[in-house]
Amino acid sequence: MELRKGLEDIAIKETSITFIDGELGRLYYRGYSIFDLASFSNFEEVAYLIWYGKLPTRHELDDFKSRLAEERSISDEIASLVKRTAKTANPMDVLRTSVSMMGLEDKDDGELITKSMKITAKIPTIISSIQRTRANLDVIEPDPSLSHSENFLYMLHGSKPSRERSRMLDVGLMLHIDHEMNASTMACLVVASTLSDIYSSIVAGISALKGPLHGGANSEALRQFMEIGSQENVEKYVLNRLSSGQRLMGFGHRIYKSLDPRAKIIKDYLSKVSKDEETQRLFDIATKVEEIGIRILGKRGIYPNVDFYSGLLFHFLGFDLDLFPTIFASARVIGWSAHVDEYLKDNKLIRPKAIYVGDLGKKYVPIDER
Ligand code: ACO
Repeated sequence: MELRKGLEDIAIKETSITFIDGELGRLYYRGYSIFDLASFSNFEEVAYLIWYGKLPTRHELDDFKSRLAEERSISDEIASLVKRTAKTANPMDVLRTSVSMMGLEDKDDGELITKSMKITAKIPTIISSIQRTRANLDVIEPDPSLSHSENFLYMLHGSKPSRERSRMLDVGLMLHIDHEMNASTMACLVVASTLSDIYSSIVAGISALKGPLHGGANSEALRQFMEIGSQENVEKYVLNRLSSGQRLMGFGHRIYKSLDPRAKIIKDYLSKVSKDEETQRLFDIATKVEEIGIRILGKRGIYPNVDFYSGLLFHFLGFDLDLFPTIFASARVIGWSAHVDEYLKDNKLIRPKAIYVGDLGKKYVPIDER
């Protein structure tokens, strides 16, 4: 039996959701290039595309948007959980527990995608409540007349965002909706393949996404730029970090061996927008880290991934640093559930093997004789 650590290069299903060309740095959702979607589409349209496999008509999109908007409110129990835990707990733990509670509260025999829509609609309400509770600010109720991203920023800041800012969040979210068989999607599928429920799958996805090798890298990347402090310190910092065996956060990817197109799109946005002084300073540091990182690691196929610039984008939009992985999760729920839905059409219990390397035939020794 062949041992494949980390299941590297193992396909566990066929999919028509997402295709990644890791050599050329290309990403397609349902056959559409991420570059086109980021330029011309919007969060709700891409969510529809991923779940239903086609671009919606205007009527279908309007209907879909209002169904999503109707589901934004959270129960009093979840609101109270968020209030009690926001100041002390890791936001991913609050989110994971909130989604678990949504599962307790959902008594419908509804379809998997309908349940996933509810989760997607509610997560921004949870995230903005965490941030505002911590800052001793009143929690803002969702406004159904606003788009998903406008409402997200409205609930965070208490005022309607500019078109530019809501567009930036929209693009940031679109880029995180799906990414084929990553660690968190795999976690969702393992749970789903036992014929468990979608809430349990999403809880598993959030749990896997939390770690710094996956969705937690966006906070770590920004923390890194903050620690560097100025462009002059970049070279020394990167060399020290790599020579001491530490990884450059926001660099490297199992599939991409060239620049992650999502990093390119976010960087382009950030370079064009007018930035406050702090964001400009951090952006300048990031571009220098990118340049030096590629100079050293590029020959081994290690380039910036989506998390390298996404943290900077979320920071620019006013989210607290430790909330970044929850924003990632808020969009990835769509990819997780679409993959679960696709997998269940031809389900096979996920049950790989381990190669046993221990001894056999040992004699049991009673406890007093050990
Ligand atoms: N900095 C320095 N070296 C790196 C980096 C990095 N960011 N990433 C990989 N390498 C090196 C490893 O040290 C290893 O070197 P070695 O062969 O000399 O031991 C080699 O590249 C292969 O690394 P693996 O971890 O085995 O490769 P894998 O495909 O599993 O790595 C991973 C993918 C985990 C993302 C890795 O690149 C990493 O740790 N990056 C930093 C964390 C990060 O940015 N994660 C976000 C990923 S994107 C996402 O989840 C949305």
